[in-house]
Amino acid sequence: LVASVEQVDQTYIMIKPDGVQRGLVGEIISRFEKKGFKLTGLKLFQCPKELAEEHYKDLQSKPFFPKLIEYITSGPVVCMAWEGIGVVASARKLIGATNPLEADPGTIRGDLAVQTGRNVVHGSDSPENGIREIGLWFEDGEVCEWTPVQEPWLK
Ligand code: TYD
Repeated sequence: LVASVEQVDQTYIMIKPDGVQRGLVGEIISRFEKKGFKLTGLKLFQCPKELAEEHYKDLQSKPFFPKLIEYITSGPVVCMAWEGIGVVASARKLIGATNPLEADPGTIRGDLAVQTGRNVVHGSDSPENGIREIGLWFEDGEVCEWTPVQEPWLK
């Protein structure tokens, strides 16, 4: 497997209001940083109802939809864009299963949450949705392209 020819993707990661309220922002950001992904967008944001509904539009018909919108808009969230090879699938693994009681220990939800309706973090489920969601949550100019400084020890 040659890493350099693999696809560099973007994903939208969001720390939900419970993550902010519980003081887990640093802990959650750390996990993506330590894994080795590149942060390209970051802001604390009070989400309007219309945006929450657009973000979760595929779940509109679900019985839990009104509660989900109430939860996501109940306080500020931390919006993030992350970039890297295979970042979408890898971030989903780092986050763990939707139901935190079924999420493996070592994952964010497995370590830090109990309820599906308070599962502390969101991650895009496909590269297409990564692009869509970053476009939804960030304004032009808020996502930053940058190159980490690295001394190449191996060529
Ligand atoms: P979903 O996209 O299925 O999960 P994930 O966040 O792991 O991609 O659902 C979106 C959110 O909706 C989920 O994080 C929490 C909420 N939710 C409920 O409140 N109850 C439920 O039964 C499900 C499936 C999701």
